Amino acid sequence: AENKYEFIQVSEPRQAVGLVTINRPKALNALSTQVINELNAALLSLQQAPEIRSIVLTGSERAFAAGADIKEMAPLTFSKAYLDFFIESWSNLTFTIKKPIIAAVSGHALGGGCELALMADIIYCTKKANFAQPEITLGTIPGAGGSQRLTRAVGKSKAMELILTGNNFSGEEAERWGVAAKAFDSYDELMEGALKTAEKIAKHSKVAVQAAKEVVNKSQELGLRDGVDYERRVFHALFGSQDQKIGMKAFADKKSPEWVHE
Ligand code: HXC
Repeated sequence: AENKYEFIQVSEPRQAVGLVTINRPKALNALSTQVINELNAALLSLQQAPEIRSIVLTGSERAFAAGADIKEMAPLTFSKAYLDFFIESWSNLTFTIKKPIIAAVSGHALGGGCELALMADIIYCTKKANFAQPEITLGTIPGAGGSQRLTRAVGKSKAMELILTGNNFSGEEAERWGVAAKAFDSYDELMEGALKTAEKIAKHSKVAVQAAKEVVNKSQELGLRDGVDYERRVFHALFGSQDQKIGMKAFADKKSPEWVHE
C-alpha cells in the first residue's frame, strides 16, 4: 500500500489491517467526485492486497466527512446527474469490497458522510461525533443510501424524524440506537478500539470472515426464510475449506488454530 492519492492516505498500521484516511481538511473531508474516485481506488487496492484482511476507514478528529461536496453539486442538472450516474460509484464500497470495513467516525459525519459510514460493516465513533442527514435543509434528500440504511438501522419512525428535520444526533445516540457498535470517550480511544477490532478480525480465517460478512449483509436484502437458507448454504460450503478442519481439530487438540486462509 502506497500513497499515490491527493485526498486519501493508505497505510498498514497493524499487521494485515489496512487503514484508509480521508484527508481533505480544508473542506472538512467533503466527498467530491475526486475524493470518492480515490477512495474507491484505495479500497480496491486493499481488497486486492492478499496480506490485508480487514480495513479501517476514517477521517480526521474534526470530521469523518461533512457530506458530498455541496459546491460541486450546486450547479448539477437532472440530465447531467442522471447520465453520469452521479453517486452510483459510492456503492462500490458495499458491493465490491468483500473484506470487513470498520468506519471510525469522529467529528462531523453529515449527509454523504453519514451515508458513507452506514455503508461500512461496523461503525465505531466518539461519543461527541456529529451525525445527521441534513439534505432536507439544502432542498434535497439523501442520495447515497441514507433513507434505506438509516431506516434499517433505527426503524422507520426515527429515520423519518431525522431525515425530515435534518436534526443532528450524537455518537452517544448512535450507539444507543444501534447505528454504531461502540462510542468511545476520546479520538485516541476510538482509533485504538477500531484498529484492535480490525486486528482481531484479521487473525481469523480469511475464508470464514468473508463468508460471515456475506451472510450478514444478505440479511439486509432477503426475507428471514431465504436468509436462513442462504446462510445454511454458505455454512455447508465452509465444510469444503481447510480452515474448518484446522479450526475444529485445534479445538479438539486444545491448541490455537494456524489458519491457511483457504
Ligand atoms: C463542500 C464543505 C462542506 C461540504 C464543509 N465545507 N462542508 N464544502 N461541501 N459538504 C467547507 C466549507 O465551505 C468551508 O470552506 C470549510 O469546509 C470549513 O467549513 P466551515 O463551515 O467554515 O466550518 P464550521 O463553521 O466548523 O462548520 C462545520 C459544518 C459546516 C457544520 C460541518 O461546514 C456545514 O454545515 N457543512 C455542510 C454540511 C452538510 O450540509 N452536509 C450535507 C451535504 S449534502 P471555506 O472555503 O469557506 O473555508 C450531501 C448529499 C448527499 O451530503 C447525497 C449523496 C451523497
